Amino acid sequence: MKKYEEIIKAYKNGYAIPQFNTIDAEYTRYILEECEKEKSPVILGVSEKVANHLGGFKVARNIVDTLIEELNITIPVILHLDHAKSKESCEKAIKAGFDSVMIDYSAYPLEENIKITKSLVLENPNTIIECEVGTIGKNGNEGIVYSDIKDIERIKRETNAHLIAPSFGTVHGVYKGEPKLNFELLDEIKNKIDTPLVMHGGSGLSDENFKKSIAKGVAKININTELKQAWTKSIRKFLNDNPNETDPVFIIKSTGVEIKKVVSNLIHVFGSNNKA
Ligand code: 13P
Repeated sequence: MKKYEEIIKAYKNGYAIPQFNTIDAEYTRYILEECEKEKSPVILGVSEKVANHLGGFKVARNIVDTLIEELNITIPVILHLDHAKSKESCEKAIKAGFDSVMIDYSAYPLEENIKITKSLVLENPNTIIECEVGTIGKNGNEGIVYSDIKDIERIKRETNAHLIAPSFGTVHGVYKGEPKLNFELLDEIKNKIDTPLVMHGGSGLSDENFKKSIAKGVAKININTELKQAWTKSIRKFLNDNPNETDPVFIIKSTGVEIKKVVSNLIHVFGSNNKA
């Protein structure tokens, strides 16, 4: 699978490909333009919520394809369904042409997680399949259940999933206090399985935490919150500075600069620049 090879290349060469979660055409455009400028491969993350907001998985696929064509994007672009809660959702996304899906059955018993992940891998030989083991918390260290190394070994052995997202101390949303990452767990995983790992909850971590994680097998890093913060900050500022502006084109356009700053900074930290 050509697109999976991009992630393997990152894994083998000590850098990570960013997954930037997107919400619409403009947002996607800014991400693609900056990644193209930096010659960085990119994964565009779309959640079920965003796919619904857009009108369906096909809309997301078409937005990405049209932008690639119109903007002359030459870097590898992987369209990924983030945190799907059902097999049906994954299948719909795959049918619409998504390159990659994450089935998030982390809240279910391991047996069920294995069963659904395995069936997706077997039935979709041309799609990258990601699974989560343990529970990645949300909003300030809440609800973290660290992955058990035995569960990770088992899910890899029994499903042959392409990407595994372990829970090692990261959280979605905003961190409260210092994040405490369990690097020993990453070392153990690397010793037992030879598979690229996914870091969820990348927003708000230090450069040092990113670099250490990449050195220990993380080859895909998910960023959502930091982009959302950049977007809302820009809109707030623009409307404060221009209270009489009513043209959405100008209002939304104001988000481009801040979104591109986030994208460019993280590409350099992850080392994915000039790898496309
Ligand atoms: P953040 O909320 O830290 O940006 O995490 C995003 C994520 O992991 C999406 O799957």
